[in-house]
Amino acid sequence: MLKSYEEINQAIKNYYSNKNNIKSNIWRNNFHVEMPFGLMNDPNGLCYYDNKFYIFYQWNPFGCEHKTKHWGLVTTADFINFTNPEIVLKPEEWFDKGGCYSGGAYVKDGTLKLFYTGNVKGINNERKSYQCVVDYNKDWLFEKKGVLIDKEPEGYTSQFRDPMIFENNGIYYMVLGVQTKELKGRALIYESKDINRWSFVGELKTDMKDLGYMWECPNLFRVNKDKVAFMFSPQGLKEEEFKHQNIYQSGYVIGELNLDEVFLNNHTEFKEIDMGFDFYAPQVFNHKGKNIMIGWIGMPDKDKEYLSSEYGWMFGMTMPRVLEYKDNAIYQKPLELLKELRESKIVDFKSQYVDNYSIKLDSRTIECNLDLDINNSDNMELKLKFKDEHISISYSKKDEICIVDRNNMELGGKGVRKFKLKIDKSLKMHMFIDNSFIEIYYQDGLETTTLAYFPKSDDFEIEIKNKVKINKLQIWSLRRINYVES
Ligand code: FRU
Repeated sequence: MLKSYEEINQAIKNYYSNKNNIKSNIWRNNFHVEMPFGLMNDPNGLCYYDNKFYIFYQWNPFGCEHKTKHWGLVTTADFINFTNPEIVLKPEEWFDKGGCYSGGAYVKDGTLKLFYTGNVKGINNERKSYQCVVDYNKDWLFEKKGVLIDKEPEGYTSQFRDPMIFENNGIYYMVLGVQTKELKGRALIYESKDINRWSFVGELKTDMKDLGYMWECPNLFRVNKDKVAFMFSPQGLKEEEFKHQNIYQSGYVIGELNLDEVFLNNHTEFKEIDMGFDFYAPQVFNHKGKNIMIGWIGMPDKDKEYLSSEYGWMFGMTMPRVLEYKDNAIYQKPLELLKELRESKIVDFKSQYVDNYSIKLDSRTIECNLDLDINNSDNMELKLKFKDEHISISYSKKDEICIVDRNNMELGGKGVRKFKLKIDKSLKMHMFIDNSFIEIYYQDGLETTTLAYFPKSDDFEIEIKNKVKINKLQIWSLRRINYVES
C-alpha cells in the first residue's frame, strides 16, 4: 500500500509510463476513465474551462476502501487524450479531515471555483458537514478558501452535502442533498449575490414527500425554456418489479422551477436514469448548450462485488452522455466526440435474416450498434459470451420487458435487472463494451444499462438467439485512451 503523496505521485508516473502496467490484468478498461490504484467514486466539479473538460472525482488513492476521500483530476479536450490523474484536494484541514466529499464547479470571470463538502467525524462518530470553496488559478494551484456554510439548518441532520451551483437572473444558487430529522431525503437551496456569502432560502418543495431517507448528489439544470430537470441519488427506495432494483438509485423528475417560492411545480414522477447494476451519483454540466452527464460506475455498500480490488483498483466513470429532452423524458446519447475512439470497423451489414447468429471477436473493447427487426419473433435474446460464462440481454415483445441477467457469470455481482421498454418497429441497442464495464443505450437512449463484469476468460463472442432479421449490425474496435503528464 502507498503511504505518502510522494509515493503516490511516483506510482502514477511509473504506471502511465510503462505500457505493460496499463494492461496488467484482463479487467483493466481501455476507454473508460479509471484510476491506476485506489478507489474512485462520484464524478465531481465537471466543467469546461480553458479549452478543456475538467473531470474531478472522489478518490481514495491509499486503498480500496471508502475512506480518505480526495478530489482527483484528469483533463481532456477530446476524451481520448487525458492528463495523468492527480490529487488536487487532500482531506487535511480541520473542516475536511474526514474527507473532501462531492460537489460541483462554477466558472466565473475566468476563475474556476470548486464547491465541496468537508466531512468531519468526531470521536463518537458524530458527523459534521461543512460546505467549502476552492479557487483554481492557472498555475495549477488549488487554493482552499475555507468554509462557506458551517452547519445544516434547523430541522435537518448532518447528512448535508454535495453542493452544486447554478446561476439564474444574476443570482447564484446552491442546491444541496440533505436528510430531515424525520429521516426523509430532501434538497435545500441557498443563494448568493457574489458567490462568496450564502444565505439559506429553503427546502425545495416537491411532491416527493416520501422518497427515501437521504438524497445525495442533487443537480438542477434547465432542459428547455420552461422546464428544469432535478436529478439526484435517493437512498432507501422500495424495490419494485420493474424499478429500484439496486441498493441505491439515481434518477430525475422534470418540472417548472419557481425559485421565489422554492417550488418544483407540476413535476413528473421520479424516473431512474439508468436501469443497470452499477450506476450512481451522476453529475451534469452544460457545454455549448448541451447538458452532459457522467456517472460513477459503482455502487456504495456493494464493494465485495468489484473484484478488481484484488489488483488494487476499483470502480470507474461512464463515458459522457448528452441528455436530450423529449416528451417529458430524458434521452441519453453518447457524446458525438466519442466517435473518434473508433479504430476499425469489424462488422457492417444490413438486412439479413439469421437464425442463431454468432460472431467471435478478438477484443472486448468494442462499440456495437444493433438494430433488430423482431416483428416475427416474440422474444429475443442476445448473449455476450466469455467462454463458459455469459451475460444475457433478453426482450419480450408481448410484455415489453427487457431483462439483463448476470447470473451466468462466476465472479463479481450477479442477479437480474428488469425494466419496461416500449419499442416501435425494431429493437435498438447501442453497446459500448470495455474489459470490465458495459454501457448499453436502448431505443436511441430512452433507457440505458450500465454494468461491471469480471469474466475469467478473454474469449469473447456475441450471440443472437432466435430467428430474427438484423436490420443493421455495426461493430467497431475502439482505441485505448491515452494519459500524458500535464
Ligand atoms: C455518493 C457520496 C456523496 C458523498 C461522496 C463521498 O456516492 O456518498 O454523497 O459526497 O459519495 O465519497
